[in-house]
Amino acid sequence: MSLDNTIKEIKASFQSDLSKSNTTTELENIRITYLGRKGKLTTLFEEFTKLPVSEKPKYGKTLNVLKTELTIAFNEKLNELNPSSDNSNDSSEDFSLPGYNLPQGSLHPLEQVTSEIKSIFQSIGFSVAYGPEIDDDYHNFEALNVPKHHPARDMQDTFFVDPNTVLRTHTSNVQIHLMENQDPPLRHICCGRVFRNEAVSYKSFCLFNQVEGLVINETSSFAEMKGTLEYFVKEMFGKGTKMRFRPSYFPFTEPSAEVDIWNDKLNQWMEILGCGMVNPNVLSNVGYDNTKYQGFAFGMGIERIAMIKYGIKDIRLFYQNDKRFLEQF
Ligand code: PHE
Repeated sequence: MSLDNTIKEIKASFQSDLSKSNTTTELENIRITYLGRKGKLTTLFEEFTKLPVSEKPKYGKTLNVLKTELTIAFNEKLNELNPSSDNSNDSSEDFSLPGYNLPQGSLHPLEQVTSEIKSIFQSIGFSVAYGPEIDDDYHNFEALNVPKHHPARDMQDTFFVDPNTVLRTHTSNVQIHLMENQDPPLRHICCGRVFRNEAVSYKSFCLFNQVEGLVINETSSFAEMKGTLEYFVKEMFGKGTKMRFRPSYFPFTEPSAEVDIWNDKLNQWMEILGCGMVNPNVLSNVGYDNTKYQGFAFGMGIERIAMIKYGIKDIRLFYQNDKRFLEQF
């Protein structure tokens, strides 16, 4: 039998077998019979190798065309029976490939430290309050017992929006708003950005973040304030942290103090916050009876806390958005 006839026969029987098959098992048998490693096509290609050299070009082409035709017909039938196994149109999706590692952002270190401070105070009953960053002179200074031309204004170099409006120099303005709107008892912390017109350097920036606390009731005392702040320091910096209260001055508190903690690495005391008993003038400014109510207040810079906690040497790093810095937190 000539090769031509064999080719015709194989093609015809393949087509009739294919048209009769209705299941993937039947199809698989056809694949094995015709296209498999020991199938009829393979046998044909083996016979082809035995042909005289002169006949090879002609049959080589015919056999390749045959193989392509049978494969295409087979895949079409396979798709008809099983549409999901689309292998005729090799798609570029490979579901077994491992996924991409998407970079995950993280909270800014200041945000992390702020929420740590907040949760320490919340755990001992403080609520969180917020207030305006742009405020009038009265709420930022006057009501806090810092009258115009008082030398204490020099403690906080101020950005003025107009002669009566400032970018708040501390979050103490929130405490005035709170007291104006609520009767005692009060137990709040206020957080947010504050602004000071200072020369920018490694240790001061034109804006920074503060957390301030205010407790007003009929019984609070300096001793209670010391206990509260000691609890905060031990939670924030570790149980063994050495701390001290040092007498200080703020117009809105009397008596006033500053808290230092001991830095083992630098071998020195570092100031972390200011505090004191709320000045009776402040209480009467907001309409509280200062013979009945008393309280304490404290305030700290979050950058400073973060710098001490993580050994950061330059405050400007918090505001440069350098990923090499941010990724360490
Ligand atoms: N408001 C003060 C400051 O910004 C901090 C402070 C708050 C001090 C409350 C004492 C009591 O420097």
